Amino acid sequence: MYYIGIDLGTSAVKLLLVDESGSILSSVSREYQLSFPQPGWSEQNPADWWEGCLDGLKELLNDVDTAQLAGIGVGGQMHGLVALDENDAVIRPAILWNDGRTAEETDWLNTVVGKEKLSRLTANIAFAGFTAPKLLWMKRHEPDEFSRIARIMLPKDYINYRLTGVHSCDYSDASGMLLLDVEHKCWSDEMLDICGVSKEQMPRLFESFEVIGTVKPELAASLGIPASVKVVAGAGDNAAAAVGTGTVGDGACNISLGTSGTIFISSGRFGVDPNNALHAFDHADGAYHLMGCMLSAASCYKWFCEDILKTADLAAEQADITADKLGRNHVYFLPYLMGERSPINDTDARGMFIGMSMDTSRADMVQAVLEGVAFAIRDSFEVAKSLGVKIERSRICGGGARSELWRRIMANVLDLPLDIPQTEEGPGYGAAMLAMVGCGAYGSVQEAASALVRTTETVLPERSLAERYETAYRKYRRIYPTVKNLYKELQ
Ligand code: XUL
Repeated sequence: MYYIGIDLGTSAVKLLLVDESGSILSSVSREYQLSFPQPGWSEQNPADWWEGCLDGLKELLNDVDTAQLAGIGVGGQMHGLVALDENDAVIRPAILWNDGRTAEETDWLNTVVGKEKLSRLTANIAFAGFTAPKLLWMKRHEPDEFSRIARIMLPKDYINYRLTGVHSCDYSDASGMLLLDVEHKCWSDEMLDICGVSKEQMPRLFESFEVIGTVKPELAASLGIPASVKVVAGAGDNAAAAVGTGTVGDGACNISLGTSGTIFISSGRFGVDPNNALHAFDHADGAYHLMGCMLSAASCYKWFCEDILKTADLAAEQADITADKLGRNHVYFLPYLMGERSPINDTDARGMFIGMSMDTSRADMVQAVLEGVAFAIRDSFEVAKSLGVKIERSRICGGGARSELWRRIMANVLDLPLDIPQTEEGPGYGAAMLAMVGCGAYGSVQEAASALVRTTETVLPERSLAERYETAYRKYRRIYPTVKNLYKELQ
């Protein structure tokens, strides 16, 4: 049988056709616009996501024996607020995970409601990208639109809604709304109340691998697929990527270098970071995870190459970064182009280069961008270590992980062996695996992961290089606290 895994990303939607032995038969992608209507704001049109999905599905299914199609799973960018009115029309563009407009609402939640209470109710504190502060922002700034909300959903749930007509959400993605009691897997009545919304507006909750329904008959007919095709609840893209890289069960770790950068630590038991620097969320395998999320990772590299250096050849920019230069760079880069989430939770923070001199080259600055992202991931890694979490190795996925150089830098900055899965398409592959579990091809997510996920190589840290990066990281760590108080003034 065949399964489709959809990764609803920030720059594009990617669709994979996979058979139940895990082979990727074909893949297509469709890009869409990301708009920044004001500094620090980030929005997208849900209609563009759906159009990209539909168009992608048509191409993916071209020349395929569609009678074999059994299930669809979607993994998607987390936290985005999609609001529909009673006629199912989208009320305003979706406010995305990397949108920083809610600084005041986030502050209000953390100080007036209080971090202790938020953490007790939801296992997390407020971060600007989370969904609850967005609802508060809309209530205050767009009261008419807010009063018209009939259905609240996350980005991938909008796709599931268009596919099936079922208003659903899975626990992993719901965890990032700050409305879910993560430990007990139910909506927090108190949080809904604080945000001025009701349970009737919220989606029905499912495990990621549970079937929410079948494809709507008229859609199935127009795509030429059986009306029996099942759709599972799917997952937030990080949980889906964790499934796709086999990061399930207790203690497994995955790093994703996508538009955002995340470190994802799977856990069999519920646990909260006492300082809430790491998110405590449900996992798509039915258990839990801790996660650090930096807002700009591979996107820093894309920005520097495309917008600043004006080149489209991103790989070529790394050619002059020779091995002898690693760990010896005098240029440092803070990757806070959209503010930062984990672990500093600072919407005012911004990107910065420091340490240039007259002999600094273009390659040094490119290298600083790659290293700055690795150092920022290490910041979250350090928090995990300080909680006593033992991480002995990690998987790595996402577009950035395609670069051999970046993987080497990451392995040495973290001083950690990094296993490379056979596909870097983490979220899409994981979403297809969830569909396989939902359709009964595998008994559990763990079973699917052991049967399907293979790693192809391991990047090992090198003693002297890891030591050089240790020294560099200690210097890097001093930069943000030194400039932190300037950011507000500069804006
Ligand atoms: C995770 C997060 C990002 C988005 C990116 O908390 O905000 O990783 O999910 O798509």
